[in-house]
Amino acid sequence: MRKPLPEPWRVKVIEKVKVLTREEREKVLVDGGFSMFGIPSEAVYIDLFTDSGTSAMSDWQWGGLMQGDEAYAGARNYFHLKDSVEAVFGFPYFLPTHQGRAAESLFFSWLLHGKQGMKIPSNTHFDTTRANIEVNGGTCVDLVVDEARDATSEAPFKGNMDLAKLRRFFETTPKADIPVCMLTLTNNAGGGQPVALANVKATSELCKEFGVPLYIDACRFAENSWFIKQREEGQGHRSVADIALETFSYAEGCTMSAKKDGLVNIGGLFCTRDKDHLDVLTQRLLVVEGFPTYGGLAGRDLEAIARGLREVLDENYLAFRTGQVALFGEMLAERGVPFLKPTGGHAVYLDAGALLTHIPPQKFPGHALAIELYRDGGVRGAELGTAMFGDMDEATGEMTTFAPIEMVRLAIPRRVYTNDHLEYVADILGDIAKRKEELKGFRFTFAPKIMRHFTARFEEIR
Ligand code: F0G
Repeated sequence: MRKPLPEPWRVKVIEKVKVLTREEREKVLVDGGFSMFGIPSEAVYIDLFTDSGTSAMSDWQWGGLMQGDEAYAGARNYFHLKDSVEAVFGFPYFLPTHQGRAAESLFFSWLLHGKQGMKIPSNTHFDTTRANIEVNGGTCVDLVVDEARDATSEAPFKGNMDLAKLRRFFETTPKADIPVCMLTLTNNAGGGQPVALANVKATSELCKEFGVPLYIDACRFAENSWFIKQREEGQGHRSVADIALETFSYAEGCTMSAKKDGLVNIGGLFCTRDKDHLDVLTQRLLVVEGFPTYGGLAGRDLEAIARGLREVLDENYLAFRTGQVALFGEMLAERGVPFLKPTGGHAVYLDAGALLTHIPPQKFPGHALAIELYRDGGVRGAELGTAMFGDMDEATGEMTTFAPIEMVRLAIPRRVYTNDHLEYVADILGDIAKRKEELKGFRFTFAPKIMRHFTARFEEIR
């Protein structure tokens, strides 16, 4: 059988990477307190820490950088971006921000200002959204479908909102306490799983019935739209651009980190149909980000986003992109490395708990696997397990709650790595799986209360 179309681009510029020895990597780990955040990028051979802000831009985008108009007000690139936002999302109003969480901060600091007891439902809030809601006194309510919690279920839309749970939530919560409903496409915190178009529509209808505006977290909207085209009945004949437009037609607005499907290294957006929302947030933007025609970015960055938003809808690109993630999953399966099924849009989530059954959650199996992957292969992934999500008893240092699944996320940057790079990663993991009993657990030596995982330090329990 013929293989699917490989990369629909050719390489014009390369970035050299260093390859350290195992001994050098061991020293890097010790110096950085066994934290993945403590590893200098130059000591990493293949960096799968995040797909955010790590995309390779195209020659068209780089060309756009030279056409940056750095005027304080009314830069031409702002109007190009406005055209892209209208064409791709169909939203008439938008504000640029320096990244996704700045858009979330603007939105929630206004929406929740001076209010008590606000509750915001979502399929699953991403952690920056959660933090922005919680610091403003709100409560996050995750209502994703139950399949999302089953690591082996091959359900096609494990990111869907559970409509029965949402209805119950609306029926039992005073309307005045629900300022907005969010939907994260794809569901990053839930394994990068997509949300079906029918589910977006039904969520929107339910929101309308209860008078609650629906906003989308649009970070990976193009990947989500591609999955709809591939997996949802009756959608296969449509263009991804068309599916994306319909998706957003069900929402009042969106927040977006352009560092994902904007195919850029920095930038974010707040988009809306609601002129009142725009007007209040414009005032706030002026205080915290900048004038609304640049909003915390340079004109050249606006241009790169304007072009990236259009480029990301190229279906040959999306087929390659999601195909590469799926292929990586197949390579891991062949080597007996457990991961969450099916593979998501932007990452493979290893199931470290299933692999390292001799390391209890108390001793962070996800962290142990991530460390070994770096030590053995120079590959950086991110632990999304108990070290990140568990609650700790301050007095004893013992973990009192554990993550539901001990995951290590291997996020694939867009247009950066080849299938050979990923095969190398799969080989390293396959070797680790064969000698898994050698891996040891970890404990914290430093664990701050706020945003613990960024600055925590660990030691190996020998
Ligand atoms: N929403 C989702 C779904 C995200 O995945 C992210 C970032 C944000 C919002 C915030 O955007 O970083 O531009 O402020 N996710 C990155 C990740 C950090 O690695 O998954 P930001």
